[in-house]
Amino acid sequence: MSFKTIILAAGKGTRMKSKLPKVLHKVGGKEMLNHVIDISKKAGSSEVVAIVGHESELVKEKISKDVHTVYQEEQLGTAHAVKCASSFINDEDDIVVLCGDTPLVNSDTLKNLYDYHKKNKYYITVLSTEKEEPKGYGRIIRDENGDLLRIVEEKDADDEEKKVREINSGIYCFDGKELKEALGEVNNDNAQGEYYLPDVIEIMRRKSLKVGAFKGATIEELMGVNSRVDLAKAEEIFRIRVNTHHMENGVTILDPKNTYIDGDVTIGSDTIIYPNVRITGKTVIGEDSEILSGSSIDNSTIGNNVVINHSTIVDSKVGDETKVGPFAYLRPKSNIGKGCKIGDFVEVKNANFGDGSKASHLSYIGDADVGKNVNIGCGVVFVNYDGVNKFRSTVKDNAFVGSNSNLVAPVVVEEGGYIATGSTITKTVPDGALSVARARQTNIEGWVEKKFGKKD
Ligand code: UD1
Ligand code: CA
Repeated sequence: MSFKTIILAAGKGTRMKSKLPKVLHKVGGKEMLNHVIDISKKAGSSEVVAIVGHESELVKEKISKDVHTVYQEEQLGTAHAVKCASSFINDEDDIVVLCGDTPLVNSDTLKNLYDYHKKNKYYITVLSTEKEEPKGYGRIIRDENGDLLRIVEEKDADDEEKKVREINSGIYCFDGKELKEALGEVNNDNAQGEYYLPDVIEIMRRKSLKVGAFKGATIEELMGVNSRVDLAKAEEIFRIRVNTHHMENGVTILDPKNTYIDGDVTIGSDTIIYPNVRITGKTVIGEDSEILSGSSIDNSTIGNNVVINHSTIVDSKVGDETKVGPFAYLRPKSNIGKGCKIGDFVEVKNANFGDGSKASHLSYIGDADVGKNVNIGCGVVFVNYDGVNKFRSTVKDNAFVGSNSNLVAPVVVEEGGYIATGSTITKTVPDGALSVARARQTNIEGWVEKKFGKKD
């Protein structure tokens, strides 16, 4: 048995004061709406429908193509929003409704809600929780037996009702047939002039259909994001969750509050992460590695026993036992082998760098294929751009590129080729040859005195 999910995501989110619709703001590197979509899929949803309104084209672009979207032109209320998706609701369906601005819900909570709903044969089950300061939320009103009577919104509540601490999460499970019928009967006769989804409860009760509230969530996971301040809170909760997960898997994180790891990152055991590190996208890091402060790694694969020190790595690979940094920059498509050294102020882009090769300081290695056990001296530049086009260079195994040399692409250094320091290489360096490409030194004796006179 499974359910369909409807996610309400048409609102603008005025309090965010943003050009971006609220549900596209990110928590842990992922749009809030995509969190909610993934959570519902993980809980077993067979189909997901998102109600979109503000910036609907942009929202559609950012979500997976298997999510249906329905356009709600005017935001007339949560019941109206669900009604827009009527064509997706079949009589025999179970429907879960979620909000696009509640990104921290646990998928297990949804599963539990659904199980509770089925077990009790309810026609609507509201997910609720107790909140010390319930202000702003709809309150759960129960009768003397504890049965659910209705939900009253803050703006419609009297003083007694405002004291109630059990709140509506905005998450529900419904019987498809009765939901569709009840939606036709909801009116907007209330303080906000909106069609309220929770009004379905009283409509169903009048038909003697069983309804219930399931107090099965923590207040933290139900947190809704309405402002940038809320967004920072959600980010913090998410960060601690992710970091706790890694620590439980055997990763040392010295300062979990100041370590920023996206939700889809994988890290092997006994790896140590120092404070102020960002690891984002679909990055995978192996075991026994050390990621030192100030490093930022995006969408990259890092091996075992690697040290990354104060460096930036984007869309790249770093093999086992390699050391990177401090202050190295691996730009997209850098593929660094095993046991390499990419030292301080070295920039690599779109290049393969073979096992055991070293570039210890101050080099640019762009558009290149560097073989194994190559030494790139200090200050070497791969000159890959003529102002119009980019070209590739090849440096084969065991070659030695002396300090402060330029390799003007396209150029090949054959195996074991040896380039004297300060050379500007424009032609092939043959196998095992020494290549010197610089002006010879000339000494003019006595020149200084002739020019400037004798020093006292
Ligand atoms: C709603 C509930 C309230 C609950 C709270 C939990 C109603 C009437 N009230 O209040 O009981 O405690 O959630 O957070 O449902 N949306 C649309 N189209 C619309 C209206 C809303 O897509 O026409 C979307 C919003 O973008 C938002 C979500 O539905 O993502 C909730 O709407 P919102 O207006 O924020 O409801 P609340 O006042 O928070
Ligand atoms: Ca809200």
